[in-house]
Amino acid sequence: MFNFTYYNPTRIHFGKNTIAEIDTLIPSNARVMVLFGGSSAKRTGTLAEVKQALGKRFVVEFEGIEPNPTYETLMLAVAQVRELNIDFLLAVGGGSVIDGTKFVAAAAVFEGEPWDILTSWGAKVTKAMPFGSVLTLPATGSEMNNASVVTRKSLKAKLPFRNDLVYPQFSILDPTKTFTLPERQVANGVVDAFVHITEQYLTYPVNAAVQDRFAEGLLQILIELGPQALTKPEDYDIRANLMWVATMALNGTIATGVPHDWATHMIGHELTALYDIDHARTLAIVLPALLRCTKAAKHEKLLQFADRVWHINTGSEDERIEAAIAKTQAFFEAMGIATHLSGYDLGKEAVDAVVGQLEKHGMVALGEHGNIDPAMSRNILTLAL
Ligand code: NZQ
Ligand code: ZN
Repeated sequence: MFNFTYYNPTRIHFGKNTIAEIDTLIPSNARVMVLFGGSSAKRTGTLAEVKQALGKRFVVEFEGIEPNPTYETLMLAVAQVRELNIDFLLAVGGGSVIDGTKFVAAAAVFEGEPWDILTSWGAKVTKAMPFGSVLTLPATGSEMNNASVVTRKSLKAKLPFRNDLVYPQFSILDPTKTFTLPERQVANGVVDAFVHITEQYLTYPVNAAVQDRFAEGLLQILIELGPQALTKPEDYDIRANLMWVATMALNGTIATGVPHDWATHMIGHELTALYDIDHARTLAIVLPALLRCTKAAKHEKLLQFADRVWHINTGSEDERIEAAIAKTQAFFEAMGIATHLSGYDLGKEAVDAVVGQLEKHGMVALGEHGNIDPAMSRNILTLAL
């Protein structure tokens, strides 16, 4: 196992009727901006519940953070925060709203051009406003991590940043708030969480038993409960377990002391920036092809994945690995998510375009060995056609 430092300061309030607890988590004299997305927070009543919990505090609403939050929209929030002397941010929504709020928290107090936050991968962030979140879509883990992904529409650039100053102070996880999710978003959440785990698990062995067994357990829960969540939208136990799995998949726990891949995500981000495909769907396109192209480097962990996650124990090693990748792909398809570029009406032109964008954004040495160069990315995307 590699050396590691583990730090996670986010307080989680999990369960039914936990939104009311916000009152104890935000200073009573705070000037609060509540940030949310299109219409779901209003429509579902979650926003009203949040405002009730905020009581007599000064509250201003910022509406309209879009899926794959844009720099352009978020800078409007930054201007309002400064103008109204807001001192606490509260995100109500999914990963996009929480990621967007993280950016606003850093950008509102940033000295200089806030785009530098993203081009420096977060290294230039030296302070950030305090914020909390109310999660309505289990998927990204943003509610308990220090990462955010922002798109600058004008540049067709979708870039991530990380910094310990943008961990939420608290996150409210009430599984009943996910009952209203459309099937498409439930499926996206399951697949996104699945790929977060594989990015930290399907690399090479370093004898990290805790992280491996934990990752394998989380993957099996997703495989078991994902399809059930589609057919039983109001089953509290299913939603509660999925919500906690998605959080644990990317809150640093299984990230400790192991190599990471993240190539599927970096290639996927370019697909979203160019073609507006949902984040999770881009991962479902890239992952099976990436695993097939990196079979040799990932050999041992793929065999372990086949055995412990999919219970495949017969056939040659290559056959077992191929069967595990095929089962993974079939699982994504069973969740209603197409796993080929053709499923999104894209062909060879997309391969060239994505490789060009990867080069432009310096994504030329991806993966746990840093050997996924543009030529390898081209092979992966070609296999995903
Ligand atoms: O905009 P509204 O009307 O609120 O609707 C949203 C949105 O259209 C809807 N929704 C959310 N909660 C709902 C609901 N509809 C009904 N009932 C509810 N309870 O769902 C739609 C999608 O929301 P979004 O926040 O975009 O989805 P998700 O949580 O999947 O977030 C995706 C974003 O997170 C980034 C992705 O790149 C993408 O931009 N990621 C962030 C990560 C992180 N911070 O660590 C890691 C991930 O890998 C990912 O990159
Ligand atoms: Zn993701």
